[in-house]
Amino acid sequence: MNERARPETVGQSLENSAFFMPFSMNRQFKKAPRLVSRAEGIHYYTPEGRKIIDGTSGLWCVNAGHCRPAIAEGVAKGVATLDFAPPFQLGHPLAFEFADKVAALAPEGLSKVFFTNSGSESVETALKLALAYHRVRGEGHRTRLIGRERGYHGVNFGGTAVGGIVGNRKIFGALLAGVDHMRHTHDLARNAFSKGEPQHGAELADDLERLCQLHDPSTIAAVIVEPVACSTGVLVPPVGYLKRLREICDRHGILLIFDEVITAWGRLGEPFAALRFKVTPDLITTAKGITNGTVPMGAVFMKEALYQAFQTGPDTAIEMPHGYTYSAHPVACAAGLATLKVYEDEGLLTRVKELEPYWQEQAHALKGLPNVIDIRNIGLIAAIELAPREAAVGARGFEVHLKAWERGAYMRVTGDIIALAPPLIIEKPQIDALFDCLRGVLKEIR
Ligand SMILES: Cc1ncc(COP(=O)(O)O)c(C=O)c1O
Repeated sequence: MNERARPETVGQSLENSAFFMPFSMNRQFKKAPRLVSRAEGIHYYTPEGRKIIDGTSGLWCVNAGHCRPAIAEGVAKGVATLDFAPPFQLGHPLAFEFADKVAALAPEGLSKVFFTNSGSESVETALKLALAYHRVRGEGHRTRLIGRERGYHGVNFGGTAVGGIVGNRKIFGALLAGVDHMRHTHDLARNAFSKGEPQHGAELADDLERLCQLHDPSTIAAVIVEPVACSTGVLVPPVGYLKRLREICDRHGILLIFDEVITAWGRLGEPFAALRFKVTPDLITTAKGITNGTVPMGAVFMKEALYQAFQTGPDTAIEMPHGYTYSAHPVACAAGLATLKVYEDEGLLTRVKELEPYWQEQAHALKGLPNVIDIRNIGLIAAIELAPREAAVGARGFEVHLKAWERGAYMRVTGDIIALAPPLIIEKPQIDALFDCLRGVLKEIR
């Protein structure tokens, strides 16, 4: 028994628990729970003391690894020093310090930061900023928002509306009016087993041009895409695709939003994916790794011109009627500052550049195993796509999730796609262990 395990949860039935688990199969889970009670480095530990490799950095957020003492100390000190301060018409120094520090890492020109508490809130904030920006500049006719099929932008109304995962949308009614979608970029026929950015598909960005012609570009406020669409099962952008989107947006005065809730904070070997792809959007949404997942926080980065557009009324008026009780929460800022220090001291925001070739090689070594129809990767992210079972889409993927857990690894699955994105501190032997586990599972299942 692990010394910090909690014996009271071991063997206890959860079947009648009050907890409505998010994005989970509640009945299945409560019958056969998979619980973790502590974590350290790249591992979780179950209440029984079993060690589990965290193959997906929690939910793509624990980039520096779990329970880092410096971050825990920063949070403890933060909460003991200033537990809360209203962010409306009052400030605290950590908010300003943290904003300046993260803005210094952002792509050139994205110099202002708005704090939120999650990726979903970052998305809502960015969409509202886009609409308001056009309005204050006298272009209030720009009200349409464009997303992309298979996009994931969180779970609030705006994000669900611009999102493109059918299962996340279909039971929630009409969502927002004035939203349209481009096609996704997944193309197994042409791009299966691509290493890094696939060769084919830049022309799919021209869907945006078609939507401009359909709706008239003067009605479109913003386009939002994930540079790498992770939650849907890791769709890496085709070579030239993001650049083409940027050009079309520029041509028509449309704001480009990169949703970097997952791809920021070193996941692709740069602080932001925009830096890796050398395409600068007008706004970037982030969350997750900003505090290493320890305290909820999100942030929206914007170009200076967006911020300045709001600074025109009387200086006795609130410029932007938007914000959250917990925007720039002092404990989140403390967590963020401590996280940033760990990232910087250990070079974690760029470490993936060194790891990526090895990671890619190990991922693609799974080619040829039963049911594997695609392997794709970028940065410290990989996806292994399996052929679905007849009339049971997702069943094979979920079995991989369960069997990997039994063998000592936690892996996210989306349908029949296994997504891997371990903490950025992972070492090569641990990469081997993660892929060996998956190899064993893939050989075992039918
Ligand atoms: C690209 C993207 N946007 C938004 C979100 C939503 O973030 P949150 O769950 O913190 O609200 C996620 C979460 O995975 C995401 O991947």
